[in-house]
Amino acid sequence: MPRIYLNGSFLELEEARLPLGDRGFFFADGIYEVTRVVRGQLFEEEAHWNRLAQGSRDISLAIGGYLDRDRLREISRRLIEENDLGRAEATIYLQVTRGAAPRTHWFPPAGTPPTVFASAAPFQIPRELRSRGASAITQPDIRWLRCDIKSVNLLPNVLAKQRAHEAGAFEAVLIRDGAVTEGASSNMFGVIDGRLRTHPLSNLILPGVTRKVILELALELGIDVDERPVYAVDLPLLEELFATGTTTDVQPIVSLDGRPVGAGHPGPIATALREALERRMGVA
Ligand code: PDD
Repeated sequence: MPRIYLNGSFLELEEARLPLGDRGFFFADGIYEVTRVVRGQLFEEEAHWNRLAQGSRDISLAIGGYLDRDRLREISRRLIEENDLGRAEATIYLQVTRGAAPRTHWFPPAGTPPTVFASAAPFQIPRELRSRGASAITQPDIRWLRCDIKSVNLLPNVLAKQRAHEAGAFEAVLIRDGAVTEGASSNMFGVIDGRLRTHPLSNLILPGVTRKVILELALELGIDVDERPVYAVDLPLLEELFATGTTTDVQPIVSLDGRPVGAGHPGPIATALREALERRMGVA
């Protein structure tokens, strides 16, 4: 039975209770983070907590009195320990909502405590899929205009991912106004003319922690980077395509809408970056 964290207590998942008035339930009024754990250490911990802090400011969710970095570190450490995940690979899921209150669209009264939930789960890299490559489909990006906030309001992402799932594909590549923004649960990178292309940071994509690391690694490896979207008209020109994320690592996409991407197998840039990421994470 997994041990979880809820509002100050560590308990068995089955013992955890939340009021139905939670604003996460009614409004998806909250934010979350998923962080990778390798042998008990959180990968890029600061970047995740920075994004959480930015998200809480963006949605005016006061978490200061309830969560600071030391507390986050302590919660993560205890979850890893109590779930015996210190030697394996794992993920920490953290979600903060605007708390429980009678249902009004406007914020609950000041001082309403946020709901803080965290859990830890074992994670295994699907190595065969990573090295074979996966398929994807394109889908219209119907999300709101603050995709930079890691909101738990993921309905458009869920719908796009379900379409992909029904098509037997790994990911949905989202397209807005003729440009690839990102994946349903990952950032997207393409290679055209030997140059790495990815959507620049803006309100239209999540500032992925893995995206940031991949850009650092590309610089180290001397790979040419162009922070410009892959346009829909460019899709037939793609030499490589890959998704990045905390649980996605670098996942080559070798088929898009049923057509091969490039040579139809993982390309050299995706492979080099995947290996560099594994070395950086310490899982190589
Ligand atoms: N998803 N874009 C979207 C829409 C995402 O949901 C994610 C991550 C990313 C990659 O971000 P990062 O590298 O920081 O994980 C990009 C998480 C893992 C999830 O929802 O489970």
